[in-house]
Amino acid sequence: MIKAWTDGAEAGLLDRRGERGSTFVYMPGSVPERSVSVTMPVRTASWNTAYGLAPIFEMNLPEGALRERLRLRFAKPSGTFDELDVLAVVGRSQVGRIRYTGQAEQLHESVPFQSVDEILAQRRGGELYRYLLDEFAQHSGISGVQPKVLIRDTEHSNALKAAKVRLSQSFQGATHIVKFWEPDEFPQLAANEYFCLQAAENCDLNVPRYRLAEDGMALVVDRFDLRPDGTYCGFEDFCVLNAKRSADKYMGSYETAIIRRFEEYGRSNLIHEEQEHLFMLIALNCALRNGDAHLKNFGIIYDDVNGDAHLAPVYDLITTTVYLEQDQMALTLNGSKRWPSSQQLSALGEKRLHLPPSRVLHLLQRVDEAVDFTRKQMGRYISDHAEFADIGNLMLQHWQRVAS
Ligand SMILES: Nc1ncnc2c1ncn2[C@@H]1O[C@H](COP(=O)(O)OP(=O)(O)OP(=O)(O)O)[C@@H](O)[C@H]1O
Ligand SMILES: [Mg+2]
Repeated sequence: MIKAWTDGAEAGLLDRRGERGSTFVYMPGSVPERSVSVTMPVRTASWNTAYGLAPIFEMNLPEGALRERLRLRFAKPSGTFDELDVLAVVGRSQVGRIRYTGQAEQLHESVPFQSVDEILAQRRGGELYRYLLDEFAQHSGISGVQPKVLIRDTEHSNALKAAKVRLSQSFQGATHIVKFWEPDEFPQLAANEYFCLQAAENCDLNVPRYRLAEDGMALVVDRFDLRPDGTYCGFEDFCVLNAKRSADKYMGSYETAIIRRFEEYGRSNLIHEEQEHLFMLIALNCALRNGDAHLKNFGIIYDDVNGDAHLAPVYDLITTTVYLEQDQMALTLNGSKRWPSSQQLSALGEKRLHLPPSRVLHLLQRVDEAVDFTRKQMGRYISDHAEFADIGNLMLQHWQRVAS
C-alpha cells in the first residue's frame, strides 16, 4: 500500500485491487483542497480502477529507457515490477504536486545536487548521460519515452540563497529536466527540440527556459511547475482530463480531447487569450510537422485544485518527420490524422474556438512569421555546428506555412 500526498499533506491511500486493478481512498476528514485531481474530488467512497492505476497516478510513470533502468535496478528477485512498485521508487520526486511514500512514512523530498552549467558545458557525451541516469533515475517521477532525468540545480539553489528568498521547508526537490537522445534512433533530437521550442517562443507562447548543451547532447528545461518558494503547482496532462490511460495517448481528436476539454477544465479571467494560445500551439505543431502532439503533450497548471486552471506552458515540440518521413498527426482533426490544409486549420479556429475569421488569419500569420524567424536562427546554428546540418536542413525543408 502507498500513501499519496498533495501539496505536502497526506491525501489518501492507494493499493492493488483484484488481479490487475487498484483502489484509492481519501483519508477520513480530508478537505476539498486535498483532491488528487480536478477529475477526482474528495469523497468517502473509494475510487476504483479495473486495470492499472487511475490516470492521475499513472501520469508521471517513467517510460522507455528510464523505466527500463529502474526495472533493472529495483525489480524484486521474482522479476515483478508493477506500476505501484515504480511509484514506490520514484514517488518522492514527481512532476506536479502529488508525492507518494510508504504507508507509515513521512515525506522527505531530497534530490541530490547537480550543476546545470556543468551539463551544458561538459563534453562528456554518453558518459554524462549514463552517470546522470544512474544518479537521478530514482528521483525522476516523469513520463515520456525519450531518456530523461529530473535534477536539482546547484546554481539555482545558490542564487535563491543569495537573494534571501524565503523557501518552504520542503524545498529539496528537482528544479530541471535533462533530456537526452539515442544517437542511432533520433540523431540531434535535443537541437531539434531546441529550435522547435524557439519557434514557440517566437510565437510569444509561454515556454519555460530551455538550454542546449554545447555539444548538442542534452536539452535542459526549467520545471514550469516549480514556484519561487520551492513548492510545486498542480499539473495534469490531457490523458488525465480525458480519463485515458497513458497507453491511449494517441486516441482522440484535437477538437474534443484538447479544445473541448480545455473549455471544460480551463478556468481563469484570461481564458480567451489562453484558447488563442492553444489554437496557435496546434497550428504550430502542424507547421513544424510534429507528429507527437498527443494527449500527454498538453496540460493544465494550477495553484488550487478547486480554483483557476491555466493552459500549461509549451513543452516537447519536435519535427518528427525528419526521423519518420510518413509521420502523421498524433490525434485526429476532421476525423483524419493527415496534416491539415490552411483552410482546415482556419475552420478549426472559427468553428471550434469561435474566433472571427480575421483573428484566425492573424494568429496563423503569427505562426508563419515565427517559423520564418526561427529558420534564420537555425541557419546560423547549422553553419557553426556541422553535426546538425543533415537534420537541421531536413527540418527547414519540412516546416510548412499554415496561413492561406
Ligand atoms: N518544463 C517542464 N516542467 C514540468 N514538467 C514538464 C516540463 N516539460 C515536460 N514536463 C512533463 O514531463 C513529461 C515528459 O516530458 P516530455 O514530453 O518533454 O518528454 P518526451 O520523452 O519527449 O515525451 P514523449 O513520450 O511525448 O516523446 C511531460 O509529459 C510533462 O508531464
Ligand atoms: Mg512528451
